[in-house]
Amino acid sequence: ADGLVIAVDGPAASGKGTLARRLAAHYGLPYLDTGLLYRMVARTMLDAGKALDDAQAATASAAGFDDAAIDESRLRGREIGEAASVVAAIPAVRRALIDRQRRFAAAGEGAVLDGRDIGTVICPEATVKLFVTATPEVRAARRHKELAGRGEAATLDGILADIRRRDARDSGRGDAPLKAAEDAVQLDTSALGVEEAFQAALAIVEDRR
Ligand code: C5P
Repeated sequence: ADGLVIAVDGPAASGKGTLARRLAAHYGLPYLDTGLLYRMVARTMLDAGKALDDAQAATASAAGFDDAAIDESRLRGREIGEAASVVAAIPAVRRALIDRQRRFAAAGEGAVLDGRDIGTVICPEATVKLFVTATPEVRAARRHKELAGRGEAATLDGILADIRRRDARDSGRGDAPLKAAEDAVQLDTSALGVEEAFQAALAIVEDRR
C-alpha cells in the first residue's frame, strides 16, 4: 500500500492490541489483530476434537476458515491463547495465513496490524514498526484484570506461568519467532498507563512516517 502501514509486534499482554487499535482509530486506518487468526485455527481444532499437533488438520483449518466466521468473544479465553501458540508454531499453518494478512495490509490507504511477526515477515516494508514490551509481571497483572472482567477466574501466579510459557514458545519456534525487526522501535509500556503508552507510540509514528 502507498499509505501508512504500522506494524505492532510484541509478546502476549504487552498492550500492543490496545495501542494498535488506538493508532488505527487515530489515523482512520483499518486494523487487523492477527492473533485472532491463530486463535481461530485453535478454536476450530478444539471444537473438532483434534489434537493441536495434528499439522494436517491445523493447516486445513487455517486455509479454510472465512474471516466473517471470526467471533472474537469465543476466541479471547485463556485456553485459546495457549492453544493458538501451539498451532502457530506449525510452519504450514503460518504459511496458510500469510496471504490474507498481506492482502489486508495492501488493500487500502494503509493499515495497522498487530501480532508477533508483522515487522519481520508479514510487512517487512511497513512504514513504522513498533515492538511493544512490558515485564512479565506487569503483563500478568494486566491479563489478570482482563480475564476477571470476562468473568474468567485465574490466579496471578497461574497467569504469570502461562505468559512465561507462551513467551518461550513464541520466541523459541523456528518459523517466524517473536522478535523485534532490526528497524523496529522498542516501546516498554511497563510503567505507562494506556494514554501514556498511546502518546509515546504516536510520537514514534509521527517521527518516522
Ligand atoms: O496476540 P495473541 O495473544 O492473540 O496471539 C495468540 C498466539 O498466536 C500467540 O501466542 C502466538 O503464538 C500466535 N501469533 C503468532 N503470530 C502472530 C500473531 C499471533 O504466532 N502474528
